[in-house]
Amino acid sequence: MTANEEKDIKGLRAAGRVCAQAMQLMMKSVRPGMTTLELDQIGEEFLKKEGATSAPRAMYNFPGGTCISIAPVIAHGVPGDYAIKDGDLINIDVSAELGGYFSDTGASMAVGKSKPEYDKLLGTAKAALDKVLTVVRAGKPLNLIGKTVQQEAAKRGYNPIFDLTGHGIGRQLHDKPASVYNFHKPDDRRIMDNGLVLAIEPFLTTGKGRVVEKSDGWSLKTVDNTIAAQFEHTVIVTKGDPIILTLP
Ligand code: CO
Ligand code: CO
Repeated sequence: MTANEEKDIKGLRAAGRVCAQAMQLMMKSVRPGMTTLELDQIGEEFLKKEGATSAPRAMYNFPGGTCISIAPVIAHGVPGDYAIKDGDLINIDVSAELGGYFSDTGASMAVGKSKPEYDKLLGTAKAALDKVLTVVRAGKPLNLIGKTVQQEAAKRGYNPIFDLTGHGIGRQLHDKPASVYNFHKPDDRRIMDNGLVLAIEPFLTTGKGRVVEKSDGWSLKTVDNTIAAQFEHTVIVTKGDPIILTLP
């Protein structure tokens, strides 16, 4: 959607805040030995308490309130009886609807004791999102996002995940524009309009950057079983710095 009215911006901010708070609560709650279902319940209970609804469950009948992915699964991981281990690389992605507005946020982290290769990937993926937020501006090409993600990834020898994209969001979880690519695509001539609401979510990997769906019909894992990290914010494009909606 395009949000230029105060009423819409206020609603989007409220939805963004509740997603960010749920994700932060889940990240703080992760403990080795806990199942991904237990972690999911912490997030979904919080959403409910705040009057929000899990977007993947409501929109797509996803069998969970949030997506919890343990490497080499990198997205759409289904919460279940897997017991989280010390040293797992985990991604938590929370999207929800509040008052008719949708928001979407995600982050990756190492559980307990990390490894240098995890820290380097996590730091680079986070820095890629931060860099992207400095180039998002009304009137600029939408693919400046993908170009920037790919450049930041290449600096450290990583690839973006070519199969996963950001997306428009607002009155729906997946709104126009449909694919916000995480790589440079010279024939993508779309422009970012003032007020455009975007979920920006670079995924970086040590591998080739391709994913396959697992037999559960949801979980996406890297084809080469390599690790990946994602960081996601929902933002409103403006003539200046974007408004970051998914802050706690
Ligand atoms: Co997300
Ligand atoms: Co998203």
